[in-house]
Amino acid sequence: NSPLKVAVLGCGSVGSQVVRLLREQADDLAARIGAPVELAGVAVRRLDGAREVEVPAELLTTDAAALVARDDVDVVIEVIGGIEPARSLILSALEHGASVVTANKALLAEDGATLFEAAEKAGRDLYYEAAVAGAIPILRPLRESLAGDKVTRVLGIVNGTTNFILDKMDTSGAGFGDALEEAQALGYAEADPTADVEGFDAAAKAAILASLAFHSRVTANDVHREGITEVSAGDVRSARDMDSVVKLLAIAELRTDDQGEEAVSVRVHPAMIPRSHPLASVREAYNAVFVESEAAGQLMFYGPGAGGSPTASAVLGDLVTVARNHRQGTRGVGESAYADRAVLPMGET
Ligand code: HSE
Repeated sequence: NSPLKVAVLGCGSVGSQVVRLLREQADDLAARIGAPVELAGVAVRRLDGAREVEVPAELLTTDAAALVARDDVDVVIEVIGGIEPARSLILSALEHGASVVTANKALLAEDGATLFEAAEKAGRDLYYEAAVAGAIPILRPLRESLAGDKVTRVLGIVNGTTNFILDKMDTSGAGFGDALEEAQALGYAEADPTADVEGFDAAAKAAILASLAFHSRVTANDVHREGITEVSAGDVRSARDMDSVVKLLAIAELRTDDQGEEAVSVRVHPAMIPRSHPLASVREAYNAVFVESEAAGQLMFYGPGAGGSPTASAVLGDLVTVARNHRQGTRGVGESAYADRAVLPMGET
């Protein structure tokens, strides 16, 4: 069988692990896909940048636009992050006939609709399991496994950095500042940790979870958001006294609006949860998503929510699915089956 050509956009902590796994698992991937995978190119910002994994020099390029416009590329993996140039590159990849795997939560939460429409128009796949909760398989279960059930509520710890900070405050009595410094020293929090500690990262993931759980179209702007910067050592101590913990929760649920219609409400804020709740046992930088549905009842998905290798695991899983579809000339479930359930205005919960 002719090789499946894959282009990787970005070679940071996730991209380099994707490249490593593509090489190390080449035989298994070929068996699962039914054709060998060939790396067509790796787009990077600078050719002389330090990389965690060695990439053959002839595969590196700074011209991502030219790479995605190549007619022979079957699948484009986007792990650059951010809105632009990621959006233009994904749209161009789809227009040129490639399917796309992305880990880009910010882009999907801001402008997923544009991407889904482009994928639909091109008749190509757009998969993004890695965008929410890293290695944890949660998007496919919401979109596919639970498609015959009715999800009523999703509670998620979907940001590892803030969970690490709150866990540290709980176990050591540290204040927010000291716990943040430790998270930064261990490489969890970014040098500028705003997206994590102010809840933007969790809000983007909450929008994606809510869209799939409730077959609606929720954007980051619909999510009421409050971060953890105001959580004090005293707050955490008070929670402890009540046998509870403070967690940054992403909460998406079905509510009945003024007209008696079901609508979706999504918010991210610090919440006190009893230690007996399964989410209270999520420690350090781990993530978990707790799902309540009518027929199945309660389910919990748990695992590493960030980091190069775990995130690359989810990317590669999507690659196998997309590659199989590509070879068979079929598409996955796509995003067209929206029930267009209304989303409650921000703050109305
Ligand atoms: N900054 C994110 C986190 C990375 O801490 O969870 C994964 O999206």
